Amino acid sequence: MIKVSQLTVRYGELKAVEDLSLEVQRGEILSLVGPSGCGKTTVVKAILGLIPYEGKIEIFTSRLGYCPQKDVLFDWMTVYENAVLPLVLRKEQPPSNIKELFERFGLSGFEEKRPYQLSGGMRQKLSLLRAVLSGEELLVLDEPFSSVDAYTRKKLQIWLSEIVHRMKSTVVLITHDVEEAVFLSDRILILSDRPARILKEIRVPFSKPRTIKTFSDPRFSEIEEEVLETLMNQP
Ligand SMILES: Nc1ncnc2c1ncn2[C@@H]1O[C@H](COP(=O)(O)OP(=O)(O)OP(=O)(O)O)[C@@H](O)[C@H]1O
Ligand SMILES: [Mg+2]
Repeated sequence: MIKVSQLTVRYGELKAVEDLSLEVQRGEILSLVGPSGCGKTTVVKAILGLIPYEGKIEIFTSRLGYCPQKDVLFDWMTVYENAVLPLVLRKEQPPSNIKELFERFGLSGFEEKRPYQLSGGMRQKLSLLRAVLSGEELLVLDEPFSSVDAYTRKKLQIWLSEIVHRMKSTVVLITHDVEEAVFLSDRILILSDRPARILKEIRVPFSKPRTIKTFSDPRFSEIEEEVLETLMNQP
């Protein structure tokens, strides 16, 4: 679904990403984990074509949804208008199952409210719904659950696993929450300090969708430890 070859990104003198290559298969959930400031968002922005880069990036779909690190919800629009914004911009009609999507995203009954009237978790879901309406085939999610409490976060993770499984989406997930990466991913790429390079790739063997039981699988903590060790022991 995505093929990135020898990606290097510079902001003037500062090299944020160096010679990074990766592939994401259709239906796969790939996480990029790395220290703060290492270049994760930069990789995403390059994939989306938002910044100049060296190397080659191929994306094999046009149905792409992006959930930026900081949610971009507009308080002067209703929840519904915020969700369908990508469609309005493309002059497309909302899909026939739009009502069901609002239900699935826990936003049913809130269509006419404004984003500031939502809880943190609901705001996250609204951002994700907007990404899904933009294109559910490939979802690029940059720290989608960074601003909610630990309990809500776990609930959202379980919910996300179920929902992307049902939509058969391919997902690129940026996170610095190692537990979240292990829980949601088929494969984790661990990135180095800036400039971002791939230190290690780890496969996560659990069946999907993941459930609350996944957290207590004995292999879960082993994988989590392997990711943490790689992050901590980098030169
Ligand atoms: N537009 C920009 N202009 C100049 N430097 C930038 C720009 N955007 C990011 N950087 C720098 O590039 C580096 C990587 O930033 P990036 O946002 O990709 O990190 P990140 O891994 O996503 O961090 P975090 O986990 O905190 O979100 C940082 O040193 C940052 O200061
Ligand atoms: Mg970032």
